[in-house]
Amino acid sequence: MTTPTLLPDHAEKLIRARRATRAFTPDAVPEDTMRAVFTLAGAAPSNSNTQPWNVEVVSGAARDRLSADLIAAHGEKRMSLDFPYRDDLYTGAYAQRRHEAGAAMYGALGIGRDDHEEREAFTAESLDFYGAPHVALLFLPPNAEERMAADLGMYGQTLLLAMTAYGIASCPQGLLSFYADTIRDSLGIHRISNNKLLFGISFGYADTSAPINNITVPRAALHQTTRFHS
Ligand SMILES: Cc1cc2nc3c(=O)[nH]c(=O)nc-3n(C[C@H](O)[C@H](O)[C@H](O)COP(=O)(O)O)c2cc1C
Repeated sequence: MTTPTLLPDHAEKLIRARRATRAFTPDAVPEDTMRAVFTLAGAAPSNSNTQPWNVEVVSGAARDRLSADLIAAHGEKRMSLDFPYRDDLYTGAYAQRRHEAGAAMYGALGIGRDDHEEREAFTAESLDFYGAPHVALLFLPPNAEERMAADLGMYGQTLLLAMTAYGIASCPQGLLSFYADTIRDSLGIHRISNNKLLFGISFGYADTSAPINNITVPRAALHQTTRFHS
């Protein structure tokens, strides 16, 4: 027996309306809206209700300073990761999907495979949060290991969906975590926090005229990812 609810249509709309947005208008999200979505995100589940998310939300002058610091660190190849990354992390079907997502993105931008200069300019834009007026940086406690990433992932998606419900566009950005020390320095949280940065989320209002915001990234068929046992 299933209990009918009125929610499936809403869930379908909300979940599918969330897209990685990579061009924003400069309009700021009102503070009360910001508080509402971050409060809602706190309803995310976590292991034993530990809620190990520590979130720094950055706007205004601090946001501009952070972007400049990130672009400088990138130019000087000053990387600092709290969680290791390897280029060969994704293989087989995962590598193929990654390749297709990149092709859709660069295709919409009209940037060719070997156009390193244009690709580099796009990376710099991403370190300017794709023009978004806000960025949230999602940290785990200093002793965090892989397990806790599940909690922060739950929080992240809950936050993205809460934003979507309020008409706020977003882009989760793993790239920001490559510059963890730069971020801590720029925000002045180095001395008070050894929390570990897993990813960031740029957010604001979508520039709907930008072609990059109109790409569709396909999903694997259900049978490729999910098996039902009985
Ligand atoms: C953990 C995580 C890290 C990501 N890192 C980046 C990133 O650094 N830069 C970027 O442009 N998009 C990034 N994305 C966005 C993904 O590319 C995007 O979610 C994926 O291609 C699916 O597209 P969709 O979100 O529009 O459905 C990231 C997404 C996740 C969940």
